Amino acid sequence: MQLIFSNDTDKLYRYVADRLLETVALKPDALLGLATGGTFEPVYGRILEQRSRVNWQLARTVNLDEYYPIGRHGEQSFYTYMKKRLFDPLGLTEEQSLVLNGEAADPGQECMDFEERIDALGGIELQVLGIGRNGHIGFNEPSDAFEPHTHYTALTDTTLTDNARYFEGVDQMPTGALTMGIETIMKARGILLLAVGRSKAQAVNALVNGKITPDLPASILRVHPNCTVLMDSEAGALLDWSLGQQL
Ligand code: PGA
Repeated sequence: MQLIFSNDTDKLYRYVADRLLETVALKPDALLGLATGGTFEPVYGRILEQRSRVNWQLARTVNLDEYYPIGRHGEQSFYTYMKKRLFDPLGLTEEQSLVLNGEAADPGQECMDFEERIDALGGIELQVLGIGRNGHIGFNEPSDAFEPHTHYTALTDTTLTDNARYFEGVDQMPTGALTMGIETIMKARGILLLAVGRSKAQAVNALVNGKITPDLPASILRVHPNCTVLMDSEAGALLDWSLGQQL
C-alpha cells in the first residue's frame, strides 16, 4: 500500500481527479468506481474543469453504494448527488453510469444484478474511496466478518450521525444502505482512498498500523496489490510521513 501525504488538500483532490481522467484517457471504456460524500465534491469539481481533456463518450462509471430505502430522484440520494455533480455535466447517460437503486423492490436481486453488471463491464479499473470515522469503506460497516458481495446493510450510529447533516435530522434518514462488498471493492485493479480532516485521523492510523480486521473494514486494503492512501495533514496527523511520499 502506497501512502501520499500533503499539506495542501487541493493537491490531493487534483491528484485523484487527474488519476480518474488519465484512466479514461488511456482506456476510453474503462469502468471507473466512484464514491460520494463531502470528500469527493472538490474531486468532481476538478474533473469538470478538466473535462475537455478526455472523450467521455465511451466512459462508464459505477458507484459504491446508495441509501436504502430512498427515492432514486430525491434530493439526498447518491444517484442525485452524482447526477448533479458529474453525470449531467459530462453528459453521461443512465446506461453509462451504474448506481444501485435505492427503491428496488427486491434489494437482494438488485445487489446480484449489480455484481453481474460490473463483471459484464469488465470489472473496475480504478475505484476511489473515502473512509468513515469508523473505518467503513462504501457502507461496509465494522462487523464480525467481511461481507464479500454487494449487500444490504444497516447503518451504524456513527454513520447516521455523520451523514445526518445531509438530511433534516437523523430521524429523517434511511437506516440502511446497499453497498459493494469487500470482495467487489478488492477486485478493482487500482484503488485510491482519500482521507481529509482531523475526524479521519484515527481510522487512517488504524488502517495503516493496526490489525487487518472486519472491525475496521478499510484495513483489508493493506493486502490489495495496487492501493494508494492519500491524506491531508489532519487525516495523516498520527502517521509517520517518512513512510510515504509527500505531494
Ligand atoms: P465523507 O464520507 O467524505 O462525507 O467524510 C466519507 C465516507 O463515509 O466514506
